Amino acid sequence: MPRVLMVCLGNICRSPAAEAVLRSTLEQEGLADGVHVDSAGTIGYHAGDPADARMRAAGSARGYALTSIARRVTDEDFHDFDLIIAMDRANLRDLQARADGPAEIVMLGEFVPGEGVPEVPDPYYGGDDGFERVLDLIESAMPALVAKLQEMA
Ligand code: 4NP
Repeated sequence: MPRVLMVCLGNICRSPAAEAVLRSTLEQEGLADGVHVDSAGTIGYHAGDPADARMRAAGSARGYALTSIARRVTDEDFHDFDLIIAMDRANLRDLQARADGPAEIVMLGEFVPGEGVPEVPDPYYGGDDGFERVLDLIESAMPALVAKLQEMA
């Protein structure tokens, strides 16, 4: 069973949304029992907090329940997960700098169709459109990500 860890900076906006969208997509496709999905942040500043209320509201409006409680990435995560998915290049660099296990580390943007590998921009200090952009990018990554998870299964 592939194990997937979504990672952003604080684990209260982007990675909780990515976790919820992936879980919902897998449920719709009847694949939820075959994949373990979690999320974490590269910093522990918000550890113990629910997802940001703005991100929960934007997700809820599209039918996604953001239920995660924030936690920091641990050393064990690089062993406990097969695929660790970074939201932006800073997340990717932070993960690569401390990676000490077999987990494959990629950017979510690698699964977004089109030219290049887009970052999922941090919406924390911006307006509501930033949260919609996060969800748009995550949703657009789902077909290629689910296909990869099926190859890994
Ligand atoms: P996230 O957003 O990485 O998508 O969860 C952020 C949340 C909190 C902070 C930065 C980004 N912060 O600096 O507290």
